[in-house]
Amino acid sequence: MKKVGIFYGSSSGDTEAVAKKIQEALGGDDGAEVIDIIMARKEDLERFDNLILGTSTWRGADLQSDWKFYLDMLDESDLSGKKVALFGLGDSRNYPANFVDAMKVLYDKVLKSKGTIVGATSTKDYTYKKSRAEVDGKFVGLPVDEDNEYEKTPHRIEQWCEQLKKAFL
Ligand SMILES: Cc1cc2nc3c(=O)[nH]c(=O)nc-3n(C[C@H](O)[C@H](O)[C@H](O)COP(=O)(O)O)c2cc1C
Repeated sequence: MKKVGIFYGSSSGDTEAVAKKIQEALGGDDGAEVIDIIMARKEDLERFDNLILGTSTWRGADLQSDWKFYLDMLDESDLSGKKVALFGLGDSRNYPANFVDAMKVLYDKVLKSKGTIVGATSTKDYTYKKSRAEVDGKFVGLPVDEDNEYEKTPHRIEQWCEQLKKAFL
């Protein structure tokens, strides 16, 4: 597996912490590089063949605020030939009708930039009412709920990363 670029936007640190746990599960510094989206340039996105993008969701469908400033960069990047996985932080108890919605915003952008999405996950393990991030009966990436189900996070990350190791280039 070629080195993975993990890009995240995080307001209170949850998404950042999960990005680092994903890095560990992919083999640490040798396996993946973690980059705060506010530090990223278009060339950073383009230098990896395997990408992971992470965002939290705010007030239904809203991306984490740093990501909003960098969406143009995603629009302008050519992601053709690249494999892209998504993860999303959310709160399924307080926002059950908008659970991890923001992953769908990144999903649409990646497809528009011709990236290939990998790492869809089953909805079975989650309790929520509605999510825009559900496409064809699956989540478009990995939902993580540190507010209510933090004890499930290590296993979710581990399983997802095993899936990614097979899907990545
Ligand atoms: C004001 C507010 C609005 C939120 N809106 C949503 C939402 O619509 N959907 C959701 O799944 N989570 C929502 N959340 C939960 C956050 O996404 C969650 O706490 C996440 O772990 C924050 O990650 P971060 O610190 O990396 O930004 C909201 C949290 C707050 C405080």
